[in-house]
Amino acid sequence: MNFNTKYSSEFIQSETLKELKKEALNHLNSLKQGTCKGNDFLGWTKLPDISEREISSIQEVANSLKKYETLVVIGIGGSYLGAKALIDLFKPYFGKSETEVLFAGHHLDETYLSDLTHYLKNKNFALVPISKSGTTLEPAVAFRFLLNLMIEQFGTSDLVERVVAITDKSKGALRQLVDEYHLRSFIVPDDVGGRFSVLSPVGLLPIAVAGVDIHALVQGAKEGMSNFLALDENNPAIEYAAVRNYLYRKDFTTELMVYSNPKWNAFSEWWKQLFGESEGKETKGIFPASINITTDLHSLGQYVQDGKRNLFETFIRFSESSIDIKVPTSQENYDKLNYLSGKSMHFINNKAEEGTIKAHTEGGVPVLEIVMDVLSEKNIGRLIAFYEVSCAVSGLVLGVNPFDQPGVEAYKKNMFKLLGKV
Ligand code: PA5
Repeated sequence: MNFNTKYSSEFIQSETLKELKKEALNHLNSLKQGTCKGNDFLGWTKLPDISEREISSIQEVANSLKKYETLVVIGIGGSYLGAKALIDLFKPYFGKSETEVLFAGHHLDETYLSDLTHYLKNKNFALVPISKSGTTLEPAVAFRFLLNLMIEQFGTSDLVERVVAITDKSKGALRQLVDEYHLRSFIVPDDVGGRFSVLSPVGLLPIAVAGVDIHALVQGAKEGMSNFLALDENNPAIEYAAVRNYLYRKDFTTELMVYSNPKWNAFSEWWKQLFGESEGKETKGIFPASINITTDLHSLGQYVQDGKRNLFETFIRFSESSIDIKVPTSQENYDKLNYLSGKSMHFINNKAEEGTIKAHTEGGVPVLEIVMDVLSEKNIGRLIAFYEVSCAVSGLVLGVNPFDQPGVEAYKKNMFKLLGKV
């Protein structure tokens, strides 16, 4: 994985960036020493050290869930986005792979819940409710509906096989249910916040059911975590954290993750939560957004090219592809596309990316780039470690506690009052 700023040199003054890198390194040091803001939530740095035995036990439970036609993972925020991101990255676009994994509890839409309960009628399904607190309204309500349906359809005799919960080790309603029905469960560690939990059972169990190679993912994350926690000024996570803050101070207050493969849509949502919830506080923070090219070049592209100049972009790119499909030649050439004959779609996509980078840079948008060779579990494990470390350091440079989310309570307070919660 390579992170670079080669397209942005005209926007960045190297001496100032050097100072910011020093600042970022100091913050990384305080994170490693456990003295930074929010230091009771640093457990995510150790998640890739998960033992072979623990991975095998997650894989074993995942295998036992694969005998069901459908698995519904119930969770919201950090208890949902990581699993969804990784499953979407690795599942084929069309058709089902292995057990179908669906999600619920990530909003309150009645149509979704009603459609889902209809869809599950007469289906052989299992449930994985995930909630660290065990009390979040959205997943709790969805779980009540789906557990009722399950009991209606199959009784309670095999609930221990059909339901696996992921929650706190002792607190919360979900833990109570686990104890009452003797359900299988995994623990969300106390010192790991939701948005940093993808490498815990919260992410690993659902993705293992979907057939993602969790060994390779964890291996990549382990290598990544060790590289990106290094107190080295060439550490790419430090550079990314420093450049983001540099651009923010120059009023580039929105970052767009840019990708040319729609499989990244869910990953970009995971990334938005990670950075948005970590940095957006005390009236500060870079707003994380995303565009999918070339699709969005035919809509938001106009804004990116010519709109308010407060945007910078980070492109996610691949130097290779395992898919070798080439544009066929046409005798008639009615579509005038023969200039592309024999060229691979990967090559064409790459040229579209290059053309976009040039256009946006010339239009006043600083472009950063993350390049991987191929889309693989190992590379994504590294990328997760890269983002987690750089997010923590970037938030610390910004001057906020990157590990809390006090603002999330505001809507809950109003909603519970309006709903008459006692
Ligand atoms: O990052 C976070 O902490 C939040 O997004 C939580 O993950 C989300 O609110 C869900 O919380 P819980 O797992 O307690 O249901």
